[in-house]
Amino acid sequence: MPTPARLHVAHALHEVFGEKGRVPDFWDRDLGEDAHLAQALLGLCLRRWGCLQAWLKPKLKDPDRGVPLGTRVTLAMGLAQLAWLPGVSDHAAVNESVDLAADRDLGFVPHKGLVNAILRRAAKDRAALAAELDALPPALDRSPIAERVLKAALAPHHAEGELEGLWARLQQPPRPDFRLLKGEVPEGLLPSADLPGCLCLEDGAPFPRPWLEAAGGIVQDRSSQALLAYAWDRPVTRILDACAAPGGKTTTLALRHPGAALTALEVHPKRAARLRQTLQQRGVEARVIQADAAEWLEQTQDTFDLILLDAPCSGSGTLQKHPEWPWLAHDELPRLIGLQKRLLIAAADRLAPGGLLVYAVCSWLPEEGAVHREWLEGARPDLRPAEVWPAALGAEAGIEGGATAFFRPHPMRWEGEGFQAFAVGRG
Ligand SMILES: C[S@@+](CC[C@H](N)C(=O)[O-])C[C@H]1O[C@@H](n2cnc3c(N)ncnc32)[C@H](O)[C@@H]1O
Repeated sequence: MPTPARLHVAHALHEVFGEKGRVPDFWDRDLGEDAHLAQALLGLCLRRWGCLQAWLKPKLKDPDRGVPLGTRVTLAMGLAQLAWLPGVSDHAAVNESVDLAADRDLGFVPHKGLVNAILRRAAKDRAALAAELDALPPALDRSPIAERVLKAALAPHHAEGELEGLWARLQQPPRPDFRLLKGEVPEGLLPSADLPGCLCLEDGAPFPRPWLEAAGGIVQDRSSQALLAYAWDRPVTRILDACAAPGGKTTTLALRHPGAALTALEVHPKRAARLRQTLQQRGVEARVIQADAAEWLEQTQDTFDLILLDAPCSGSGTLQKHPEWPWLAHDELPRLIGLQKRLLIAAADRLAPGGLLVYAVCSWLPEEGAVHREWLEGARPDLRPAEVWPAALGAEAGIEGGATAFFRPHPMRWEGEGFQAFAVGRG
C-alpha cells in the first residue's frame, strides 16, 4: 500500500495531466511530517515532467501507441525519487511505485510488471540515472506556452539571450518572503538587502507557521511588496481594493494608509467570506463586499482617492511557485483579457480628482499588461501616468535614476514573481 504522501502526489499529477487542473490549495494539508517529501516529489515530477517522459520513451516497447497516464505517473514518481531524492531508499522508490501501478484509479494494472522492471534497472545506478536525466535538454520541460511566457518576460528588457538562465531560475523551488504586521520579527527571519520591510527566511530556519497563525505577519512575495511601496504623498481617505481575496494587499494598504476608509470587493462568495475572516483576524477594518467589481463600479456613485486593481489574470508570472502552470489548458485567457479591460475602465471612471489608480497582474504576457496600458491612454486621455516606483523596477531598459509609472522588473535582476503594473493619476 503506497504511503499517503505518494497517493497525494499521484492524485495531484492526475489532476494536472489528466484534467489540466491546478494543484488544489492545501493539497498536502493532512500529511504532517510527510508533507516535505510530498512537496519535493510533486515539484520534481512537475518541473521535470518533459525530461522524465523523454527518458522513458525509448525504454517502452511501442511508445507511439500511447502510454496510459497511470503508467506515466507511477514511472515519473519512481524515477524522480531514484534520481533526485537520495533520502528515499531504493526499496521505497521502487516498491511503492509498483504498488501505485497496481492501483486501479492511479496506476495501470497491466503495466505493473513493466514499472517494476524499469525502476529496478534504474535503481542499480541512481547517479547514472540522475546524470542521464540532467543531460537532457531543459527545453523538454517547457510547454509552448511556457516558452512564450519566457520570451515575453525577457523581450521588454532586450534580454532574449537569457532564456535558459531564466528558466533555470524558475525551476528552483521558490523561497517565501514575509512582512511584519505587528510585534517583533521572529527568529529565523532576516531583513531583505534590497527591499525595506521585506523579510526572508534564514537558511535552515523553520517555516514561521505559529507567527503567521497568530497574525504577527504574512507571506507576501517581494514583487507585491515593491508594488505596494509606491511613492504617493497626496491625501488618501477612501481606498478601493477591487479584487481583494485572499487579502494580502488589502492588509498592506490598511497598514500604509491608517485611518482611510477601505472597501474590498471580491466576486467569489467563499473567497469573500475567507477575506472577511482573514481581515478580522489581522485587525484590518474594511467594508468587504461580495460583488462583481465591474458591475459594482458601474453602478456606484462612490469615488476613491486610491484604487488598486489586482486583476484576475493567467498567473504566468507565478511559474516558479506553480510548476504545473506550463501544463494547464489556459483556454480562459481571452475571457480574462476582456474582463481586465472592463474592470480597468470601470475603475478608472471611479477615480476621484487627485486620485491614484494602480493596475497590476502577476503575469508577463503583454496582452494582460502593456497592451492595456496603451489602450487606457487612448480610452481615458485625461488620466496621466503617475511615476510612483523607482526606475530600477521599471519597464524602460537602461534607466538608472528617477521613477517609473510602469512596474515591470527585469526577471534576471529581480527575484520576485513576474508582475506588470501601471499607475495613472487624475488631475
Ligand atoms: C490576483 S487575485 C487578488 C489577490 C489579492 N489582491 C491579494 O493580494 O491577496 C484576483 C482576485 O479577484 C477575484 N475576482 C475575479 N473576478 C472578479 C470580479 N469580476 N470582481 C471582483 N473580484 C474578482 C478572484 O476571485 C481573485 O480572488
